Amino acid sequence: MPSLDLAFVRAQFPAFSEPSLKDWAFFENAGGSYACGPVIERLNRYYRETKVQPYASYPASKRAGEEMDEARARLAGYLNVATEEVNFGPSTSMNTYVLAQAFRQMLEPGDEIVVTNQDHEANSGAWRRLADSGIVVREWCVDPESGRLDPADLDKLLSKKTRVVCFPHCSNIAAHVNPVAEICTKAHAAGAVAVVDGVSYAPHGFPDVKALGADIYLFSLYKTYGPHQGLMVVKRDLAERLPNQGHFFKADKLLGKLTPAGPDHAQVAASAGIADYFDALHAHHFDGTVEAAERGRRVHDLMEDQEKRLLTPLLDWLRQRNDLRLLGPSDPAERAPTVALHPRNRPAAEVLAGLTARGIMAEVSDFYAYRLVKALGIDPEVGVLRVSFVHYTAPEEIDKLIAALDQSL
Ligand SMILES: Cc1ncc(COP(=O)(O)O)c(C=O)c1O
Repeated sequence: MPSLDLAFVRAQFPAFSEPSLKDWAFFENAGGSYACGPVIERLNRYYRETKVQPYASYPASKRAGEEMDEARARLAGYLNVATEEVNFGPSTSMNTYVLAQAFRQMLEPGDEIVVTNQDHEANSGAWRRLADSGIVVREWCVDPESGRLDPADLDKLLSKKTRVVCFPHCSNIAAHVNPVAEICTKAHAAGAVAVVDGVSYAPHGFPDVKALGADIYLFSLYKTYGPHQGLMVVKRDLAERLPNQGHFFKADKLLGKLTPAGPDHAQVAASAGIADYFDALHAHHFDGTVEAAERGRRVHDLMEDQEKRLLTPLLDWLRQRNDLRLLGPSDPAERAPTVALHPRNRPAAEVLAGLTARGIMAEVSDFYAYRLVKALGIDPEVGVLRVSFVHYTAPEEIDKLIAALDQSL
């Protein structure tokens, strides 16, 4: 496999040539990534040329609708799912909220669902509230030291009454990559559907959602180099069975059935820019013409390879420090480059101030994984220091981060 051409990659992101960001190294990518150039250009173009109600018969409107359709189809290709299985909503939190309402109508009192305490609250709280309707909520708990979810523990929670299993592809704090295909197989064997929060995973390369076997797969495009939208894949047969959450007279249409907040047309259209970027990455690094799903796999592996290369020195350095607790695995092979730390001798906020003074953009918070932070024995009000990066991060920025941490602890 070729190695990533970092200069090419960074040239695709206007933020890297933005004077006001020049002296800053960005380590809050898990909060939201920089947007790639094609997304910004498409958003701009949409507002200039096609900012009209889409899907009418006049030319500007036709084009507006075509650009939205293009985004859906091209992202579906990269995720290896059917176009009609892709839904856009305002955010992942909103998408899970609506989904949970749909399941509330479909489930019976006494039915069971499984949630975790590893998830961001977006894929947890909305489901837990189904208890108000008599649904039995079972919690799959992490190991309090490592933050891992053990699939063997899930076996004990599954029963003939389990209808839904909700879990993350990767935690936004512990960063361990869960064995999604194995967990989906377990959920299916129990007769349940698997709802996977991919928000912390997708920025590191889109997954082949079909191969994972998830019935529902959600992530946030503003963390995958795109605009502020949530994307959710819902398998067609499940989407057909779920009660309509949109306008009653559109109940027989999949589009809009699970996304009652009308879409942000310009941002939906602009998200095709993510596919433009992935196409450009593919064309720059690989020969030959292959279908989108294969381009997606290659781009995924290219990003992952680069990220692991950068993660190794950071984890090696962290392993030598007794004054920092690394949350989640210390083996780069097992985790995403989302690195949450608990300083043992100083409040995390003070360390963060030191990083900010040294040109590092990072954050201290519970990052809405309140339950996980608590389960790891850390006060969510104090929070954890999180430094997160993606494929466009430069090795010099990792060096700068390590030096800044060293001076701030
Ligand atoms: C793992 C994870 N899931 C869900 C969400 C919620 O996404 P959104 O902001 O699109 O609602 C986030 C946001 O940070 C997240 O990190």
